[in-house]
Amino acid sequence: SEIEKGEFEHFMLKEIHEQPEAIRKTLAGRIKDGRVDFPDLEFDNVFKNTGKIIIAACGTSYHAGMVGRLVIEKLARIPVEIDLASEFRYREVLWNPNDLVIVISQSGETSDTLAALREARHNGIKVLAITNVPGSTIAQEAERVIYTHAGPEIAIASTKAYSAQLLIMYLLALYLASLRDSYNPVELEGLANELLGVDAMVESVLQEQQHIKELAEKYHKVQSIFFLGRGLDYPVAMEGALKLKETSYVHAEAYATGELLHGPLALIEQGVPVLTLISQDKLVDKSMSNIKEIKARGAVVLAICKENLQEHCQECDEKILLPRINPMLAPIVAVVPLQIFAYYMALFRGNDVDKPRNLVKSVMGD
Ligand code: G6P
Repeated sequence: SEIEKGEFEHFMLKEIHEQPEAIRKTLAGRIKDGRVDFPDLEFDNVFKNTGKIIIAACGTSYHAGMVGRLVIEKLARIPVEIDLASEFRYREVLWNPNDLVIVISQSGETSDTLAALREARHNGIKVLAITNVPGSTIAQEAERVIYTHAGPEIAIASTKAYSAQLLIMYLLALYLASLRDSYNPVELEGLANELLGVDAMVESVLQEQQHIKELAEKYHKVQSIFFLGRGLDYPVAMEGALKLKETSYVHAEAYATGELLHGPLALIEQGVPVLTLISQDKLVDKSMSNIKEIKARGAVVLAICKENLQEHCQECDEKILLPRINPMLAPIVAVVPLQIFAYYMALFRGNDVDKPRNLVKSVMGD
């Protein structure tokens, strides 16, 4: 086949390393002079009049949607609901004619996501699809499509498609914000220009691979890990936990850091591993006070921490540093160490990394 692993032992690792390129391709031609544009989309009338956005997706794509929700609300000031497509089908959605549904699907074939799209269209609601596969069913049935340009993704666990989805979420938030004049234009321009540099930041996180591999070797026999994050770190924690479950078969549970006290704290005892994301400058103090609570009970804390926040993480047992990045864009770089960690955990546990047991690339058929 034309798709080869090349120098890499597995597709998953290859695709992790293709992320800077996936980001560049997804960004290509979309930012000019600090402004985002979607020249061929011809959807401005809908975007200008959208009263509410409803995002529906499954799995990793859902996690991209969670980030999308936070940035669209912040920049474009449009209320966003997000739902698992598998639940969306079974609730009473209270439609408004100027709702806009955004479905996100790497494959463009996930049946629950397709059902959400059809349900919306059946109710006369406009649907924008974000997918990686041209000509997929979801691409065909939506009013409009924005393609992620991650290239074919072979490993079951999604990595580069997720990064590309994140980029689209940011581009869309910036575009909506300038179209609707909802955010300081100078700051929007700053963010757009920063987006042009995130591929290089992802490259620099990839340099941490050896260090992350060593951590995976050290911890590969654990039975369970908690992933914590607050604000934009929370969807990243969810994605990190999903990657670990999928590939290593280690039980991983993501929790919003603030919810820790409402139950899971009862499970924290000597030696329980907890991985925490620390990329949100304004939230770091609040999160570290929660981390102190679990450290006091013996948890082993691994921090994925932005370089400039590392003094706050003194007490953490292990640290992986992220480059200085605007906190709003941090999910793009913060997910990368979690992908590498999941990859090596699977490898050290002797699993079939690219084809985890029981899983398929796209869940179709009902
Ligand atoms: C399956 C895949 C996941 C993916 C999810 C949604 O569970 O194994 O990697 O995130 O489906 O797929 P989609 O193609 O709709 O993004």
